[in-house]
Amino acid sequence: MRYRKLPKSELTLSEIGLGCYSLTGAYGRKDGEAFARVLRRAFELGVTFFDTADHYTGASEVLGQAVKGFRDKVVIATKVGVTEDGGRDLSPAHVKASCEDSLRRLGTDHVDLFQVHFDDPRTPVAETAGAMEELRAAGKIREYGVGHLPPERVAEWLATTGAVSVMMELSAATRASRRGLLPLCTRHGAGALAFSVTARGLLTGRIRPGHVFEEGDIRRIDALFQEGSFESGLRVAAKLGEIGAKHGKTPAQAAIAWVLAQPGVVSALTGPSSLGHLEENLGASGFALGPDELAELEALFSREDESLAAFRRGRMEAVLSGPLDPDPNAAWKDLVFVMEAAAEFGLIGEARLLEIARPLLGARRKGAQAADLADVQRLLRESLKA
Ligand SMILES: NC(=O)c1ccc[n+]([C@@H]2O[C@H](COP(=O)([O-])OP(=O)(O)OC[C@H]3O[C@@H](n4cnc5c(N)ncnc54)[C@H](OP(=O)(O)O)[C@@H]3O)[C@@H](O)[C@H]2O)c1
Repeated sequence: MRYRKLPKSELTLSEIGLGCYSLTGAYGRKDGEAFARVLRRAFELGVTFFDTADHYTGASEVLGQAVKGFRDKVVIATKVGVTEDGGRDLSPAHVKASCEDSLRRLGTDHVDLFQVHFDDPRTPVAETAGAMEELRAAGKIREYGVGHLPPERVAEWLATTGAVSVMMELSAATRASRRGLLPLCTRHGAGALAFSVTARGLLTGRIRPGHVFEEGDIRRIDALFQEGSFESGLRVAAKLGEIGAKHGKTPAQAAIAWVLAQPGVVSALTGPSSLGHLEENLGASGFALGPDELAELEALFSREDESLAAFRRGRMEAVLSGPLDPDPNAAWKDLVFVMEAAAEFGLIGEARLLEIARPLLGARRKGAQAADLADVQRLLRESLKA
């Protein structure tokens, strides 16, 4: 395992880190005991960077227990900002209470990297950062960083606070961060922490057309796994497989090597829940893709970007102009698709997106009623016209 220093901080991270998100059941049901074995094996193989979040239910306890024997040798990152009912709260009171709660659940006296998980537009950055500084002065956190925030908010954090890292989705199939968040990291000297580096398994060569995910697995509705994006991801996986094979490496290893080759990336976070997948992924450390291979991938990405943009625009227009799919689940997925595409094309602001996400999530909880979905369709149509 190789290690990289997180700039502007006293932390050094294994270049491949292990995240605990899968314990939420997002990728199907997982067993805490088995995952604890994965965490311990990761440490034996050199992983020193572990990531969780206050709202990954049960994950902090499993992580804290698993690293008990070697706590001082690892960097524990966790996140704050999501309330129990799924709302956003970055008020100083919530940040401090969440930190105390995380310390208790992790069974430790300090968090190495405390990260803002999502944005809370109601709380000024200076107030949240003030709470982070107080926690640091009290020795409860060593450093702080940010995550899933709109680029303008990340810019504000990096320019005006002591935040040292930005967590972002980045894989050879999900490349949008290269246009916004990664350049911001380079400009401000912050470290980029990439997550979902195998694109939630899509780039491993083990997910094929027609793959059926179990009930409750978010990939059943995740836009990356639908139609155009899924097919594009499979083409990227095939190319990574072809390049990896020349070096005796797997598609997953080539996918992670590609992330590690992106300027500004300090660590690539992956989330396997089996020992086999873990060992495979860690085999990407020290494997560098050659300049010709990187260029070959860039050429493929340009073609994919073009065909994906055309596909998304066409699909967005079809969903907004036509009647919704009579199957409420399919209609719900179509509306999620439009929201994600609109955000990616910069057609809608984060605040408006959040306003529309609320009734959309509400519609799902109520069993996706046609009338509620039609309301969301109308809101989206109006917002995108404005
Ligand atoms: N800030 C955020 O909002 C955010 C969001 C997402 C994630 N993260 C952090 O980043 C971490 C990593 O993200 P992620 O879990 O999405 O990473 P990931 O490794 O891209 O995705 C994990 C999924 O991919 C599968 N997978 C991984 N390696 C595989 C392999 N070699 N072969 C076959 N399948 C493989 C896993 O299957 P198995 O379970 O079968 O191994 C699992 O279903 C998270 O755990 C979390 O800590 C943060």
